[in-house]
Amino acid sequence: MSTTSNLFTGRHVVVMGGSSGIGEAAAAAFAADGAEVVVTGRDRDRLDAAVARIGGRTSGYRLDAADPEAVAAFFAQAGTVDHLVVAVSGAAGSGPFAQLDLADLATGFDAKFWPQVRVLQAALPHLRSDGSVTLITAASARAAIPGTAGLAAINGALEAMVPPLAVELAPLRINAVSPGVIDTPWWDRVPVEQRTALFEGLAATTPVGRVGRAEDVARVIHLLAANTFVTGVVFDCTGGANLPTGR
Ligand SMILES: NC(=O)c1ccc[n+]([C@@H]2O[C@H](COP(=O)([O-])OP(=O)(O)OC[C@H]3O[C@@H](n4cnc5c(N)ncnc54)[C@H](OP(=O)(O)O)[C@@H]3O)[C@@H](O)[C@H]2O)c1
Repeated sequence: MSTTSNLFTGRHVVVMGGSSGIGEAAAAAFAADGAEVVVTGRDRDRLDAAVARIGGRTSGYRLDAADPEAVAAFFAQAGTVDHLVVAVSGAAGSGPFAQLDLADLATGFDAKFWPQVRVLQAALPHLRSDGSVTLITAASARAAIPGTAGLAAINGALEAMVPPLAVELAPLRINAVSPGVIDTPWWDRVPVEQRTALFEGLAATTPVGRVGRAEDVARVIHLLAANTFVTGVVFDCTGGANLPTGR
């Protein structure tokens, strides 16, 4: 994000999964607006590189969000957190349902659903009572795309928790961003030619004519943290790709 302000000066922001992609872009948006930001990830080198790119008052903390003891130890030393973003990712659990390996689906829950839930629960005693939490889900939660029932289950489960938690945990605000396809390092696992063809095909059928950038999602995360009158919302950031066509 190119503009800066002092909107988050004096605020402590934690971005779980902040060493790449959407989490890194969100961390950069908060840092540019004066926040003290801690980004977490499992790989030390990726963390150090991200901290250098983000700049400002940013530090890195190596952590596996799937490890309950590591998550508890992190929050025990984190001090009071004003805004928490949980952007940890997973890739398992997709494919045609008839052949879907349920162990692979369980791995998908272990990589995304459980870490996000665990981090949120462990963070609660350390969050400012009227601060905010932003989960990152995925448009697959409601997209009805064949081969994504497993991803819909993982992300839909997270999205379903947002409204009740927003009421139960108030005045803490709980929101989620549900991105469409975003060009981040998450896609590095797909061979470049296949990825390019996929992105071009999606761009052609998406109302805004392109796939997303990490900064598109970061702007929404920043908005949800900054706007104290928004809670319980799952905000679609898809370029219109998920709009119903009436088919
Ligand atoms: N990109 C898309 O098209 C897209 C679409 C819809 C939803 N999303 C969601 O958006 C979120 C961010 O995705 P992204 O595209 O930005 O992915 P990304 O570029 O791969 O970044 C994921 C970040 O999470 C960290 N991470 C992953 N597992 C972790 C764990 N167990 N503990 C701590 N850190 C962990 C990664 O660092 P380490 O690997 O070093 O730990 C990295 O910093 C994910 O929840 C993803 O499902 C992405």
